Amino acid sequence: MKNRLIVALDTDDGEEIDWLSGTLMDIVGWFKMGFQAFSALGMEAFPWFEQNGYKVFVDLKFHDIPNTVARDVGMMTKHGANMINMHASGGLEMMQTARNSAGDAAYKANIPRPILLGVTILTSIDETGFQQNFGSERQLTDQVVYLAQLAQAAGLDGVVASPLEIEPIRKACGDNFLIVTPGIRPNWADPGDQRRITTPAEAINRGADYIVVGRPIIEAEDPLEAAGKILDEMRGM
Ligand code: C5P
Repeated sequence: MKNRLIVALDTDDGEEIDWLSGTLMDIVGWFKMGFQAFSALGMEAFPWFEQNGYKVFVDLKFHDIPNTVARDVGMMTKHGANMINMHASGGLEMMQTARNSAGDAAYKANIPRPILLGVTILTSIDETGFQQNFGSERQLTDQVVYLAQLAQAAGLDGVVASPLEIEPIRKACGDNFLIVTPGIRPNWADPGDQRRITTPAEAINRGADYIVVGRPIIEAEDPLEAAGKILDEMRGM
């Protein structure tokens, strides 16, 4: 389970990142770098995390014209990102060119291509919010499945979605398509702004390949203990 728990480093405090990475080293295999951590660490993050035994998920949710996203994703690949995401709503062409760019950059650098994910609908949005904000005729889950199929058609490896949508995505996209789920809240943690949530155990039981957890770990009084409890839950203990 160590390699299926991704800790979201949602902080721009370099000392805190340093402390968390030292503290969680033995039990966590992945860190997720969003804009905050990236602004604190920059490209130096990649060799630094690698030396410390971590894999890095670059969560910058790229969403732009195909040429720009292809360059962004190629650059992150070259520097050693292990997982990169982009908004599936950026469209088929954007995702295809990003996929090609990651492939080329990895080939040139002689490194494995990073896992590429499409972000479906953010886990902070519920059905009401979806209807209010998106003006779509579809239900939220149908839109998530639609975007997952689009990401798959573009050649991406998987999607970011809520654990509540795993079953319909699996049905539409099959077992080899990765599903990475934020929106994870143990019973003892505050949901905050997250809406489409489950516990860590439920996400694993539903078939999540990776789960992403931020505040329940990084804002815990004892992050090591919190991560340990989450891993126990994932293991069904
Ligand atoms: O603190 P929390 O566990 O809610 O953090 C979840 C992380 O996953 C955040 O970094 C957030 O940006 C990210 N995320 C998400 N929902 C998505 C995609 C990414 O919550 N659909």
